[in-house]
Amino acid sequence: MRKPFISANWKMNKTIEETEEFINSFLPMVKDITAVDILIAPPFTSLQAVARLLKTTNIKLGAQNVFYEEKGAFTGEISPAMLLSAGCSHVIIGHSERRQYFMETDEIVNKKIKTARKNGLEVILCIGESLKEREENKTFEVLDRQLTGSLKDIDLNGMTIAYEPIWAIGTGKTATKEQANEAHAFIRGWLKKNREGAEKLRILYGGSVTPESIESLMSESEVDGALVGGASMKPDSFAKIVTGAIK
Ligand code: PGA
Repeated sequence: MRKPFISANWKMNKTIEETEEFINSFLPMVKDITAVDILIAPPFTSLQAVARLLKTTNIKLGAQNVFYEEKGAFTGEISPAMLLSAGCSHVIIGHSERRQYFMETDEIVNKKIKTARKNGLEVILCIGESLKEREENKTFEVLDRQLTGSLKDIDLNGMTIAYEPIWAIGTGKTATKEQANEAHAFIRGWLKKNREGAEKLRILYGGSVTPESIESLMSESEVDGALVGGASMKPDSFAKIVTGAIK
């Protein structure tokens, strides 16, 4: 069985002070939980502070983005080595907001994953269709294209996939558990056909996950966890999601 994996994606939220406040009240709430892997992805500026506070815990630290070059004249960018030295073990790559606002293509996502993996970072790759694509019955076609492009020449070691339908992100409109499971099953089928180790890989659902919806989503066989935005920003709400993910 795959161990449930719950990740917080804070996006562009929380100062260092707000981050520390969150961690200090969140830690006691989850201190006895060992049945779920927990990851927090704060903004870059909070990474070091979180790393320090998480030192004696099993909670993992992730970044929300990384650049595909290792170093050099790339003003404003952050390299995998910098993330590792800030205490990260993971990085989220290809989030739909990066694709939409920062023109990230599958080719760029692929380059980022390669550099991150080469440096030893574990990767959460985000994929998912828009509302228009779903309504036109193109969900599987989009997932196939994103998997093919993003995972070109990449094996599944150190990889997690997050299925995040764009229409469900930040909209309060969670996919039904059946919709999530169907998409996850398609993704796993694709991986089984094209890569080794697909059975072990965890597929997270993302898009308006709440303490109320987590248990029902996790009851599906192909849902191995969640990538949580809005509901991960309050300690009690995120702790409830972690608890609700225990299968
Ligand atoms: P949401 O965001 O939970 O606020 O919908 C999820 C995500 O974008 O990862």
